Amino acid sequence: MSSTAVIGLQWGDEAKGKIVDLLTDQHDIVVRYQGGNNAGHTVVCNGQTYKLSLLPVGVLRPGIVSVVAPGVVINPRAFLGEIDQLRERNVPVGDNLLVSDRAHVVFPYHVAEEAVLEKSRKSDAIGTTMRGIGTCYRDKAGRTHAMRMGDLYHVDSFRQRLAEIVIQKNQLLTALLPDFQQLDAAKIAEEYLGYAARLAPHVTDTTSYLHTALAQGKRLLFEGAQGSLLDIDHGSFPYVTSSNSSGCGIHNGSGVPERNISRMIGVVKAYTTRVGGGPFPTELNNSIGQHIRDVGKEYGTVTGRPRRCGWFDAVAAGYGGRISGVDCLAVMLLDVLSQLDELKVCVAYEIRGERTINFPSHVEELMLAQPVYRTLPGWKTDISHVRKLGDFPGATRAYLDTLAEIMGRPVEIISVGPDREQTILAD
Ligand code: GDP
Ligand code: IMO
Ligand code: MG
Repeated sequence: MSSTAVIGLQWGDEAKGKIVDLLTDQHDIVVRYQGGNNAGHTVVCNGQTYKLSLLPVGVLRPGIVSVVAPGVVINPRAFLGEIDQLRERNVPVGDNLLVSDRAHVVFPYHVAEEAVLEKSRKSDAIGTTMRGIGTCYRDKAGRTHAMRMGDLYHVDSFRQRLAEIVIQKNQLLTALLPDFQQLDAAKIAEEYLGYAARLAPHVTDTTSYLHTALAQGKRLLFEGAQGSLLDIDHGSFPYVTSSNSSGCGIHNGSGVPERNISRMIGVVKAYTTRVGGGPFPTELNNSIGQHIRDVGKEYGTVTGRPRRCGWFDAVAAGYGGRISGVDCLAVMLLDVLSQLDELKVCVAYEIRGERTINFPSHVEELMLAQPVYRTLPGWKTDISHVRKLGDFPGATRAYLDTLAEIMGRPVEIISVGPDREQTILAD
């Protein structure tokens, strides 16, 4: 058994895409199992940069099968757009891509509803990616307005159900926004049936496929989207995404029991970032935060929004690691911290004068959390060319040792630049 999972332990964008790409050649199948095109995973190889939102990173490698499992929500237009972009760049996408017929479909009313709901929260807005992800998952849980990929191939019932749903969505949206421009069910049906025809060769029962593959000894690589602290059940609710984006989501999203996974890799940035609203105890609203944003090019892959930046928060990431059950860490973007005089790592919170190493369950407690820092010396050397652990400056090794110690997990992979080559495997 040598299947692996790659899980973000922070608030997303930990550089999971790079790690999945790095590990792809030790596996046969890459599986995306939750989230949708709110994700943006970057892979840099052979001088080329690829940004993938819905397609698993495995599509970039020949001989690998990529699976989009039931827990993903699919905007077919975005999905096909990504396939087309890859084909334009001569990346073949054909029978190497499988899409679950159980995966739910994002419709235009999901995007419209999200815009209205986010606006209604005013300054408390979640700061979502506006892709209709949360509203699609909400309809999935509600069932009445839900539609799955498999439904697109039952044309008569699809048209009929969509017509019923759109009547209700128009009523709802008009109540929330009186000048809402009515959606046309017949037009949407035609559009989506067109997408369905193009996607037909890929759509299948991926759960049976994965079970058979496991029985044949195939090695699976699970590609997490978002991060553990954005998990709908375990994250900083309500400032989270709408799926189980910690390790907890692998089983429910893919239909593959976690007992089939032998290695859980927790991906962290060497610091912390967050996009959108919500508490962020170690946030740096100062020149150091701006320096990290500039050097790390911390602007959202999906929305282009500037990412909020702060020190490494071991309370938050440690919690992410525990709920996700990770065995080891991949520490990413370490190069970004070069040139700073000193570095801080948050080792505890103080909330109303009480010290804790537990991540608070209520958002208002988290908002009160004052970080307790351990301060370490910086290294002020360019480390982006380092390829061996022993070649790091002493201060860099001390920083990595500190992260491993506080997180209670070994650092097995270190990244010092976006390129595949800029990676160090600790032994
Ligand atoms: P993901 O969503 O977790 O896959 O991460 P993103 O792709 O959204 O963001 C990570 C960004 O960091 C991407 O632009 C990567 O190319 C870049 N990156 C990955 N590893 C490193 C690294 O070690 N150093 C630097 N400077 N950039 C990196
Ligand atoms: P990857 O896979 C970082 C954030 C949004 C917002 C919250 C809810 O690239 O790491 P949503 O649109 O999901 O309802 O937004 O979650 N968010 C992400 N932040 N990386 C992501 O994905 C994210 N996907 C969603 O910014 O705060
Ligand atoms: Mg991202």
